[in-house]
Amino acid sequence: MSDFEAVVTHVADRVTPDAAERERLRDAVDTLTERVHDALADLPVEGDVVQVGSTARGTWLADDRDIDLFVRFPPDLPRAELERYGLDVGRRALPEGREEYAEHPYVTGEIDGFDVDLVPCYDVADATAIQSAVDRTPFHDAYLQERLDESIARDVRLFKAFLTGIGAYGSDLRTRGFSGYLSELLVLEYGGFEPLLRAAADWHPPVRLDPEDHGTATFDDPLVVIDPTDPERNVAAVCAAENVARLQHYARDLLTDPRESLFVPSDPDPLDADAVRDHLDRRGTTPVAVAFETPDLVDDQLYPQLRKSLDGIAGELDRRGFAPLRTATFADERAVLLVELAVAELAAVTRHDGPPVDVREHATGFYDTYAERDIYGPFLDGDRYAVEREREFTTPEALLASDALFDVALGAQIETALDDEYDLLVGDDVATLADSFGVELARYFDPRP
Ligand code: UTP
Ligand code: MN
Repeated sequence: MSDFEAVVTHVADRVTPDAAERERLRDAVDTLTERVHDALADLPVEGDVVQVGSTARGTWLADDRDIDLFVRFPPDLPRAELERYGLDVGRRALPEGREEYAEHPYVTGEIDGFDVDLVPCYDVADATAIQSAVDRTPFHDAYLQERLDESIARDVRLFKAFLTGIGAYGSDLRTRGFSGYLSELLVLEYGGFEPLLRAAADWHPPVRLDPEDHGTATFDDPLVVIDPTDPERNVAAVCAAENVARLQHYARDLLTDPRESLFVPSDPDPLDADAVRDHLDRRGTTPVAVAFETPDLVDDQLYPQLRKSLDGIAGELDRRGFAPLRTATFADERAVLLVELAVAELAAVTRHDGPPVDVREHATGFYDTYAERDIYGPFLDGDRYAVEREREFTTPEALLASDALFDVALGAQIETALDDEYDLLVGDDVATLADSFGVELARYFDPRP
């Protein structure tokens, strides 16, 4: 047996649910299905229930169990009624459950240690006739059920465990990685985990896969997998270029040096404040951090807003001459937008080039405007006018402490939070973040693919 085979065999053993877990799952699904049927029987509308997702297909990872049950209603049912009946059924099947809201409300809860999502959807004729994004899911399930066998299912589990280990599993907007459905399609398309790794190691994004040869729509994404059940959809739409690159990097790594640790996510030891200061000394950079109370948002809203705000701030620091080197954002109760800068202080004056003198109208306008001001110049530099005038912000902290912070594109709720209050940490003060974000800072100062 090759090293690779030995490693994946061992991992497969670990992540394959055993008979006891499969049986407990079946019992839980049976109980829930019965409760849903009872609840449906009391409603003035036809409906049925289907189990979907990885626990329906036998592709879930051991101990990582969520039951996805979809309650299907006739497509002509008004939306408001679908929502009302859906919640009704959900509350009866999961009396302790909570209401959540995606495209429409659904109920999540727990039964016998399994997380359950109970989602109402429309029973449409095919996935192109969907009225809501979740209506597609039963078609995904039917498509995969037909094509998965025990060996592909094993390889799907391996691929999901691998993506989890390298931090690229999940289509939530914090991760922006590979969803379960996408993972299954990729393993199917390449015929197994190893051939998929070998292919990914040589990808040149954009990569376009079209399992059912729909030959349709073009998408502007690094990875395009046309949904077999819906030609208009790219299953990999949320997968960020960075996660495609991450898969490529670690695919090469695993093939070259097979080892089980790549299948196990791990946190580095947290850095303390002293260690952060040591890194900053060595790097000679100027970090600035804007810290504030985290807005009360779900991760799928919070992280895009944090990234947008971070890009906005780093972009402005860049335009103002402070040369950002790297950025990061962290959040628990407080959120942090961190920008590490190569420039701590700029000269009090900044140069501003005018038009060439021979462009008479513009040149005269420039000259007349600046001639009256208390600045250096206008003078000539070659054939152009130029001036040196006072710089608005000579330090990053001056910029970030001013209203100019609110001129950059910030996430809506981040802007509100900053408007309320924020701390500005500069230089060594950033080391105090180690108390709450030691692990994140350890990752920051020991960056890896
Ligand atoms: P899940 O997120 O539970 O994925 O969504 P999964 O396939 O069951 O994988 P794991 O093992 O729990 O991580 C359930 C189903 O909802 C649809 C897919 O059909 C998926 O199988 N779905 C989910 C999407 O179409 N897109 C998504 O972004 C998420
Ligand atoms: Mn699932």
